Amino acid sequence: MGSWCSWSLASPLLLLLLLFLCAIGAQLLFPSPVDPERWGRALLPPLLFVAAGLRRSPEQVGYLPEPGWSYRQTARRVRRSRRTGDLPPLYPNGWYRLLDSHLLPWGGVRSLAVLGEQLAVFRGLDGRAYVVDAYCPHLGANLAAGGHVVGDCIECPFHGWQFRGKDGKCMRIPYAEKVPDFAKIKTWPSCEANGQILVWYHCDGTEPAWSVPEQEEIASQEWVYRGHTEHYVNAHIEEIPENAADAAHLAFLHGPAIMSGVDLRFTNSRLWEFVKHHWKANWQPEPEPSRHCSQMVVEHSLTVFGRHLPFLDVMVTARQVGPALVFLVFEHAFLGRGLLLQSVTPVEPLLQHVVHRIYYQRNVPAVIPKFILKAECIQFERDIMIWNNKQYMSKPLLVYAGPPAPQFPSMKTSQRWRFIKILCCYKSIN
Ligand code: FES
Ligand SMILES: [Fe+2]
Repeated sequence: MGSWCSWSLASPLLLLLLLFLCAIGAQLLFPSPVDPERWGRALLPPLLFVAAGLRRSPEQVGYLPEPGWSYRQTARRVRRSRRTGDLPPLYPNGWYRLLDSHLLPWGGVRSLAVLGEQLAVFRGLDGRAYVVDAYCPHLGANLAAGGHVVGDCIECPFHGWQFRGKDGKCMRIPYAEKVPDFAKIKTWPSCEANGQILVWYHCDGTEPAWSVPEQEEIASQEWVYRGHTEHYVNAHIEEIPENAADAAHLAFLHGPAIMSGVDLRFTNSRLWEFVKHHWKANWQPEPEPSRHCSQMVVEHSLTVFGRHLPFLDVMVTARQVGPALVFLVFEHAFLGRGLLLQSVTPVEPLLQHVVHRIYYQRNVPAVIPKFILKAECIQFERDIMIWNNKQYMSKPLLVYAGPPAPQFPSMKTSQRWRFIKILCCYKSIN
């Protein structure tokens, strides 16, 4: 209490200074679509209101360039020479994000390569999004490469067969009077939630076992979209949700100040060692019927020269839903509440497309969620450097953190495997 009082006078000034630095940083790192000539008078509105966007290519982050080699060359060499380890099945059962809803207008068709499949996603004139195999069962044309939407069907660009989105049945063959029953294309269960189109994947092709939770504040537009980041991770998907349960790495990898960057050779630089992030995490699996979910409550605090700045304390509840979705709800004493929605979609066995979208209270200036997004981005890119270069360990060397309160309970063997079983519902361990 005493320390809070002593900081109460200084904190508004410090906060203003921090916000100003955040604002400059956010604008530099997430340039908004503003004409550079008008930056002078147009700087403030974008900082306050315009959403942020950042997209990293697969070879842009998480590799150490070797002398004389480009990032791309280094990344390819690391991928070729890496020992991948004894990998589990490649795609766990669950819901996976395909794309944002607004990117698929009525009558729109998109081609997507995910989960080792080639998919065509289209929005019928009934407004529903449908997901079907991309390759036409007739002669193999790609429906998403020139196909058109007709009602709730997609028409193949080669001979004009029309397939219904809800069940894949062929409804019309332009040159045949009768359509045989066996003329069908494979459909994939899909849904739309939180402004995203998702597809259900199951190794046995069974129907969805659970549904994607809708975040009430997004649906009611109490929280509004404030930006997103996109990354590619060269690792098995399991590494990413497992990282959330690995509280032991938080202090070590994510403790150094975000200003020290993402290159792990320099994150412990002496320049920034006076600032430290501190994390307290408690991870729990959820009981039935949410066996596919887990929750981690994280308390973040910051110290400068060893002094705790209470106004920067943030409480984060990270709810993992299946192997590929995380709902991170932020709560701050006076900067309000918001959600960072993480999705992981396997593009190839060892290539994951990761998207973070941030939604925040409408009445909070966009610079605040932009800063949170950037801070998360820096911390996430530190993880990427680990994932891109590591080996998958099917039997990791685990140690018990010891009584009285194991700080990292998730790393006990039994719980780790329980975690994997909960989240990565593979056929082999179901
Ligand atoms: S290949 Fe699609 S209709 Fe012939
Ligand atoms: Fe991490």
